[in-house]
Amino acid sequence: MVSLTWISVLASSIITPTLTSAIPHGSQPPSTSYSIAADDFVSADGSRFRDRQGTVYLTGMNYWSCMNLAADDHVGGNYSRFITELDQMQAHGINHLRIMASSEGAPTWQPFRMYPALQVAPGAYNEAIFVGLDRCLSEMGKRGMRATMTLANEWQWSGGFGQYVSWATNDSQIPYPSSWNLTAPPQRSTPGTGWGNYTVEGVNAAPYSNFTAYANEFYTIPKCQKWYQAHISKVLNRVNTVNGRVYKEDATIMTWQLANEPQPAVVPTQYLGPYSLELPPAPEDPVIPWVKNSSAYIKSLAPKQLVNVGFEGKQGKWYFQAVHNFSTVDYCTTHCWVQNWGVYDMLNSSSANLQAAKDFATAFVSNSSEWSKEINKPVYLEEFGMARDNWENVGKEYLYLSSAGTSNKDEYFNTIIGAAMDDFKSKNGSYIGTSPWAYGGLYRPETQHANAFGEIWAGDPPHEAPGWYDLYDTDEAMNIVYRQQQDIAKVLGKGT
Ligand SMILES: *[C@@H]1O[C@H](CO)[C@@H](O)[C@H](O)[C@H]1NC(C)=O
Ligand SMILES: *[C@@H]1O[C@H](CO)[C@@H](O)[C@H](O)[C@H]1NC(C)=O
Ligand SMILES: *[C@@H]1O[C@H](CO)[C@@H](O)[C@H](O)[C@H]1NC(C)=O
Ligand SMILES: *[C@@H]1O[C@H](CO)[C@@H](O)[C@H](O)[C@H]1NC(C)=O
Ligand SMILES: *[C@@H]1O[C@H](CO)[C@@H](O)[C@H](O)[C@H]1NC(C)=O
Ligand SMILES: *[C@@H]1O[C@H](CO)[C@@H](O)[C@H](O)[C@H]1NC(C)=O
Ligand SMILES: *[C@@H]1O[C@H](CO)[C@@H](O)[C@H](O)[C@H]1NC(C)=O
Ligand SMILES: *[C@@H]1O[C@H](CO)[C@@H](O)[C@H](O)[C@H]1NC(C)=O
Ligand SMILES: *[C@@H]1O[C@H](CO)[C@@H](O)[C@H](O)[C@H]1NC(C)=O
Ligand SMILES: *[C@@H]1O[C@H](CO)[C@@H](O)[C@H](O)[C@H]1NC(C)=O
Repeated sequence: MVSLTWISVLASSIITPTLTSAIPHGSQPPSTSYSIAADDFVSADGSRFRDRQGTVYLTGMNYWSCMNLAADDHVGGNYSRFITELDQMQAHGINHLRIMASSEGAPTWQPFRMYPALQVAPGAYNEAIFVGLDRCLSEMGKRGMRATMTLANEWQWSGGFGQYVSWATNDSQIPYPSSWNLTAPPQRSTPGTGWGNYTVEGVNAAPYSNFTAYANEFYTIPKCQKWYQAHISKVLNRVNTVNGRVYKEDATIMTWQLANEPQPAVVPTQYLGPYSLELPPAPEDPVIPWVKNSSAYIKSLAPKQLVNVGFEGKQGKWYFQAVHNFSTVDYCTTHCWVQNWGVYDMLNSSSANLQAAKDFATAFVSNSSEWSKEINKPVYLEEFGMARDNWENVGKEYLYLSSAGTSNKDEYFNTIIGAAMDDFKSKNGSYIGTSPWAYGGLYRPETQHANAFGEIWAGDPPHEAPGWYDLYDTDEAMNIVYRQQQDIAKVLGKGT
C-alpha cells in the first residue's frame, strides 16, 4: 500500500494548486486560504443557497465516521488517516461533508454500531469523541468545507432512535433486524481481519418492520424527546476546543439535521406504488409534529444556521411535502437507493439492469425537484450509491472485494450527478448539490483490521457489508465528483 505520508505530500503540494484555479469565480475566501469566516453563513433563498460570495453549490460527500476517526488513538481514532482523507476530498473539489454529531451507547455492549459512542448514556458524553468532532469542524473549515451535522438516527448503526427507546424503557432489548456481523464466517486466519456476514443468530434478528415500529416510539415517548432536545442543546452550545468557536455561531456548520432517515410511523395497508415505497397521506403520523417541534427548537437556539430533516423522499409526494413544508425547515433532501429498493441487482451484468437504475434515478431527481419547487425550497441529493461490478466477485472469498470493476457505478454516477447538475443549471430547477455515500478513502476490505473497539471504519456503517458502497481514493467516482465541481464552477463564473 502507498504510504500515508506520500499521499499527504501529493495532495497538498501537487493537487491543491490545480484546485485553486477551479474554485468558483467570486468564491475565493478573503485572506486565509480555504478558511470559512466564522460569520459567513449559508442561507436559502427560493430554490438557491447563497453565502457572502454568491450562489452556493454543494459538491458534497458522506463522511459519517469523522468524529471517531479524528479522535485520539486510545479511543479508536486514526488521525493521520483522517487528515489524508480530508486532503484527498479537498483535492477533488469537495466543499461539504455530512457527518454524525450523535451516537448513543448502552449499559451493555450492543452489536452493529459505532464505538465508542459520543453520548454514552442520557446526558453523559465521551469528551474524547467530542474533541474528535471539534477537530473535524476545525480541519474542514481550513479546507473550505461546510458540514451537515446529523443529530440522531433511525437506524441501529449509531445507536439512534432504538437506543433512546431502550433507555426510556428500562433498557429493553432492541429488536435488531438482520445486520452485518463482522465476527461471523467467513473469517481469516489472522484475527480481526475477517469479513463477516449478515446474521440472524445471536440477536434473534427481527423483521425490519419490527425494528422500525420499536425505533419510532422515539417520536412519542416524552423521555426520549427530552433527552433528544438536551442532546441538541448540548451540541449546539458546544465550544470547539480547537478553535474556540461556539458551534451554533460557526458558519462551518451549514446545517443541523434532525436525524438520518427518520421513517413514517404509520404502517400503511394500501397499495404502495411500483416499488412498495409510496405511502398514502397520513396527517396523523407522529413524524410530522416531531419534525415541526424539533426544527422549531433548533431554530430557536441557532437561528443563523440551516435546518433539514434527513428524509429520503422515497415515500412519495405527500410525505415529502408534509415534512419539508415548515418555515423552520430550510431545504429538502433526497436519498436514492436503487439496489436497496429493488430496482437494481449488483450481481446482474445486463445493460437492462443498469438502464433500470438510471431511469429510476433520473425520474426520482425530476419528481423531487418538482415537489421541492412547489414548496419553494432547494433540494439536496444527500445520499446515493451503487455497488462495484460485484458479479465479478461471485465465487471468490468475499463478494465485496475492491478488485471488482466500477463500470456500472461510474455510468450511474455520471447519470445521477448529471441529472442533479442539469436541474441546478435549469431556470426552474431546485437541486443545489449532490453527496455520494460514502467516502472509504484509504479503506479496503482486503486489508481491513478491526481496532480495539471492533471497528474497521469502512465507508459502510457497521450494520452493512464493508466494501458495498465505498468510494475509494483511487476510484473513478472521485474524478466524476471532481468534474462536477469544475463544471459548476464554470457555470457560477458566468454569473448564473
Ligand atoms: C427492568 O429490567 C430488569 C432487568 O431486566 C427487571 O428485573 C425489572 O423488573 C424491570 N423493571 C421494570 C419496571 O420493568
Ligand atoms: C453469508 O450469508 C449468505 C446469506 O445469508 C449465505 O448464503 C452465505 O453462505 C454466507 N457465507 C458464509 C461464508 O457463511
Ligand atoms: C456474530 O457471529 C458470531 C459467530 O457466528 C456469533 O457467535 C455472535 O453471536 C454473532 N453476534 C451477533 C450480535 O449476532
Ligand atoms: C414482530 O412483530 C410482530 C407484531 O408485533 C410479532 O408478532 C412478532 O413476534 C415479531 N417478530 C419478531 C421476530 O420479533
Ligand atoms: C415539543 O417540544 C416541547 C419542548 O420544546 C415539549 O414540551 C412538547 O411536549 C413537544 N411536543 C411534541 C409533540 O413533541
Ligand atoms: C406549504 O405551506 C404554505 C404556507 O403555510 C401553504 O400555503 C401551502 O399550501 C403548503 N403547501 C403544501 C403542499 O402543503
Ligand atoms: C437482469 O436484469 C434484467 C433487467 O432487469 C432482467 O431482465 C434479467 O432477467 C436479469 N437477469 C438475471 C439473471 O436476474
Ligand atoms: C415519478 O412520478 C411519476 C408521476 O407521479 C410516477 O409515476 C413515478 O413512479 C415517479 N418515479 C419515481 C422514481 O419516483
Ligand atoms: C423545468 O423545465 C423543463 C423544460 O421546460 C422541464 O422538462 C422540467 O420538467 C422542469 N422541471 C421542473 C422541476 O419543473
Ligand atoms: C489507520 O488507517 C490506515 C489506512 O487505512 C491503516 O493502514 C492503519 O493501520 C490505521 N491505523 C490504525 C491505528 O488503525
